[in-house]
Amino acid sequence: MRIIKAKNYDELSKIGANIIASQVTLVPDSVLGLATGSSVRKLYDELVLKYEGGELDFSQIMSINLDEYVGLDGTHSQSYRYYMNEALFDRVNIDKENTHLPDGKAKDVEVECENYESIIDFVDSIDLQLLGLGGNGHIGFNEPADSFPMATHSVDLTEETIEANSRFFDNIDDVPKKAITMGIKGIMQAKTVLLCVSGSHKAEALKKVLTGPVTPEVPGSILQLHKNLIVVADEEALSQL
Ligand code: GLP
Repeated sequence: MRIIKAKNYDELSKIGANIIASQVTLVPDSVLGLATGSSVRKLYDELVLKYEGGELDFSQIMSINLDEYVGLDGTHSQSYRYYMNEALFDRVNIDKENTHLPDGKAKDVEVECENYESIIDFVDSIDLQLLGLGGNGHIGFNEPADSFPMATHSVDLTEETIEANSRFFDNIDDVPKKAITMGIKGIMQAKTVLLCVSGSHKAEALKKVLTGPVTPEVPGSILQLHKNLIVVADEEALSQL
């Protein structure tokens, strides 16, 4: 495990973007596992700046996102497809055909989970998986549970997650109660995992993830077992370590 301490969110975003940029430059046909959320939002802006400066070429990149809300389609401003289009896909030369997110409007959610898992199986392993961290230690939408869910699955979001994500919706009742998420297997099979964590509100979760017991009650704690984990966190997020 490598921990890189950033001064603040801005520096974290630059460091995270540099790591992804290295991957894209060294392996132009990389499979990137991508994440949503505020922790990684500015990182995407930094990547776009590099692209605009002629430093990066996304034309051969394939992406597989972690998760999507059940019930929202890609035109909904809070869907993760919308987020990705707005943050990255519409701003660089990635082929949209090569970008994958679960379909939140799939008729049969279980079939959609199986289909999504077969995309992950097809690539064998993601080259670099970007992750944020939930306040309850979740990664993707793998919520605290009795066991680690291995494959892509549908999940009932916890009250804590619904509350945390309600800041993006007009009303807490508008927050979807379910999501589809990549499981722990897809994340752990990635060759490199890049975990970005910002802010004092994540400090306790980050401490548990990095130094606590490996337990499905803190899903991110499984990352202690990953052979190539890079944590980029700011001073506030690292304040309890
Ligand atoms: C969300 C997403 C996660 C994200 C996490 C943290 O619910 N499903 O993929 O990493 O919660 O989000 P944020 O960075 O906005 O705090």
